[in-house]
Amino acid sequence: MTTRLISISLAMAMAGSFAGAAQTKSVDAEGHQWWQHAVFYEIYPRSFADSNNDGTGDLNGITAKMDYLRQLGVDAIWITPCFPSPQVDFGYDVSDYEDIDPVYGTLADFDRLLAEGKKRNIRVILDFVINHTSDQHKWFLDSKSSKDSAHRDWYMWRDGKAGGQPPNNWVSTFGGSAWKFDPATNQFYYHYFYAGQPDLNWRNPAVEKAMFDTNRWWYKRGVSGFRLDAVDTLFEREDLKDNPVLPGTNKFGDPNTEELYNKKLPEVHDVLSRLRAVADESDAVLIGETWTKTIDELKEYYGSGRKELQMPMDFLFTNINRLSPDEFRRQIAGVDSAGGWPVYLFSNHDIIRAYNRYGDGRHNDQIAKMMAGLYLTLRGTPIMYYGEELGMENNDPKRKEDVKDPIGRLGWPKDKGRDGQRTPMQWDSTANAGFSAATPWLPVPDSYKTHNVATEDKDPDSILNFYRRLLALRHTDPALLEGEYVALNTNDPNVVSYLRSYKKEAVLVVLNMSAADQTVSFDLAPQGFAGAKATTLLTTMKPAPSGAASVALGPFGVYLARLTK
Ligand code: NOJ
Repeated sequence: MTTRLISISLAMAMAGSFAGAAQTKSVDAEGHQWWQHAVFYEIYPRSFADSNNDGTGDLNGITAKMDYLRQLGVDAIWITPCFPSPQVDFGYDVSDYEDIDPVYGTLADFDRLLAEGKKRNIRVILDFVINHTSDQHKWFLDSKSSKDSAHRDWYMWRDGKAGGQPPNNWVSTFGGSAWKFDPATNQFYYHYFYAGQPDLNWRNPAVEKAMFDTNRWWYKRGVSGFRLDAVDTLFEREDLKDNPVLPGTNKFGDPNTEELYNKKLPEVHDVLSRLRAVADESDAVLIGETWTKTIDELKEYYGSGRKELQMPMDFLFTNINRLSPDEFRRQIAGVDSAGGWPVYLFSNHDIIRAYNRYGDGRHNDQIAKMMAGLYLTLRGTPIMYYGEELGMENNDPKRKEDVKDPIGRLGWPKDKGRDGQRTPMQWDSTANAGFSAATPWLPVPDSYKTHNVATEDKDPDSILNFYRRLLALRHTDPALLEGEYVALNTNDPNVVSYLRSYKKEAVLVVLNMSAADQTVSFDLAPQGFAGAKATTLLTTMKPAPSGAASVALGPFGVYLARLTK
């Protein structure tokens, strides 16, 4: 069985690369656009591949790995900020929106990366840090130079209260007051994140124009879209009303407050709809970092009555920290019915890796495959996080003095920061996981010896090869690309099952979320698939279950079958 699956998988992997070519069409027969069938892959450039062996990843490193990405089945890479930056927040403090930081290379390197990606049908998405700049950006340097400077009103400057107190009680999400006093002009400026990340004043049309123009500049260069950073925080109430104070303190020791007046203001949506018009000029996609709490909030980001974001990230999956079939079914049903195109992800550079969140310590690799079986077979676009396909795990700092992320230094030991999920990509079992000949900026976990590209490449049962097979299937199977999501056996406490149903075909997906053997039966008559012929597409079970009437799965087992009427 294994041998048969592998040969199918190789054939499919090849078919996958042809499927990539088809994606240059912007709309398919179902009206779907390129980004709806693309598999996105997030790259944290400091940590992906280090071409010049200085311990930090770079653009040439990414370019050198394009074949790996193509073979994996990736259609678009999202590169987190690689622009010039003092690196206070590892690039999320941009000091020039139209250049590359020398740590990562040059604009010529970027152009080469784009060109090599294009040859392989891999598009490039950049990060748009829209809420704030670096305090070293020329706009801010001018802004702080005097109260009459040309850029003064590009940021939020306000007088303090008596006794040198900040203008109000708003708290920075990275600790302390969100206001920093600047003695040069005797006013405070507002920063929702670090003091090195002053908030732009989005009520000033000159800010909007300058920021939109940076997008056009990159589109012209060949970029296919942006992931928008922290869009919730673009606007603040002009009267600076204090936020309501809640009981207790947060991990940084600041009073808890309800962020009513400096987050999620309705004006955000006006900016997004205008930014979408700019994206539409270039057939580009906008992915939003939108921390939606409810499906209604999610709907607003798709845009009600007008177009906003094609792919708002709802982060609902990233908030599920246990293998609960009910929770997953509930979230999928919500997102699937929100009226837009769903986006699914488990982790990113801010969120603990899925391998740790769901692993039980005994079946971690099996669980990693099972989770892939979930988010790569749903209706929607998945965003993978680099190394997820290997079963990379968090490597959290053990000592405060080792922490690089300022959040971890400030929040230690309650919050160890985000270093753990940002460690170097594990390429092979040599020193530093083959990432760099120099000591990497963050250490790799011991598990790199087994969980790396070279080792997993040779193992037909590895997580990596499971991802490759699944992604190849995803690129070629019409039901997985286009099919409707139909939940099955919705009361099952252990197993998540659904159909992706398209015309006369469907793919049946069965995922055992428990450590015990489970047997499930299906009545597929309501969907018109009673007695349908079932062909196994992919499974972790040996031997493969036969048919769809009753499926037996071992701990965290996965079964995918094509049903034909
Ligand atoms: C969200 C980014 O993902 C995170 O890494 C960053 O620290 C904040 N926004 C501030 O830009």
